[in-house]
Amino acid sequence: MKNKFFYILALIFFLPVKGFFWLNFIFFKIFPYYFRRTFIWNETNYKYSLINKVRSHYKIKNFVETGTYMGDTSFALSSYFENIFTVELNKKLYERSLKRLKKCDNVFCYNLSSEIFLKKIISKINNQSIFFLDAHYSGPGTSKGSSTFSCLKELKEINKSKIKNHIIIIDDISDFSSFENNEKLSKIISALEKISKKYKFYFEYDMLFAIPDEKLHRQFYKEIIPHFLIR
Ligand SMILES: C[S@@+](CC[C@H](N)C(=O)[O-])C[C@H]1O[C@@H](n2cnc3c(N)ncnc32)[C@H](O)[C@@H]1O
Repeated sequence: MKNKFFYILALIFFLPVKGFFWLNFIFFKIFPYYFRRTFIWNETNYKYSLINKVRSHYKIKNFVETGTYMGDTSFALSSYFENIFTVELNKKLYERSLKRLKKCDNVFCYNLSSEIFLKKIISKINNQSIFFLDAHYSGPGTSKGSSTFSCLKELKEINKSKIKNHIIIIDDISDFSSFENNEKLSKIISALEKISKKYKFYFEYDMLFAIPDEKLHRQFYKEIIPHFLIR
């Protein structure tokens, strides 16, 4: 009788733990990666909403994107920014995105390497802007510049701007690693600090945010990132 009592008690105690284990297993292992990222937590929409929050917080008018690909980001953000400048090295992708973005008369598409594009436009950008650096080889059908990542060259060009408080967002930041023979993250940070020593760095959803002149300590977490994210 006593044994049975302890058995039931142990069952009551361990069942929720076991249940939690199985729920966890079903949610994270059985649901494929794609399903979770698309339906449960739409990753791309989250990225756009973060960029848009930065825009509205700092009252930014211009968005400069390197690596247009299909034009998804430019298209999604075209109703929020006054001007969007985007560059794609691959001719076919450029033509495809140009067709798609034709109806957005504030989106300007270029078919150049990101370095040349920035050389061309940087002196014409006269207000604090958001630079979204995302030009890199992304599998078959996409292009590769002289190196897999053109980020360092792009930062060198941005450094030529007289404006030293641009907001710089680098996508796919986890790709920067000497382990994978890519550009080192430390090199990227040094290049950003050459532009301004006032940058503060945040990492969210595999993007690096270089934010200048924060008025508040950890302003990015306090005012930009959704409140349910705890830091
Ligand atoms: C990750 S995709 C860009 C995705 C896009 N920014 C978006 O959010 O939808 C990278 C693109 O950069 C392009 N690319 C690669 N190297 C480039 C370079 N040096 N200059 C311009 N575009 C480049 C590739 O062809 C590819 O289409």
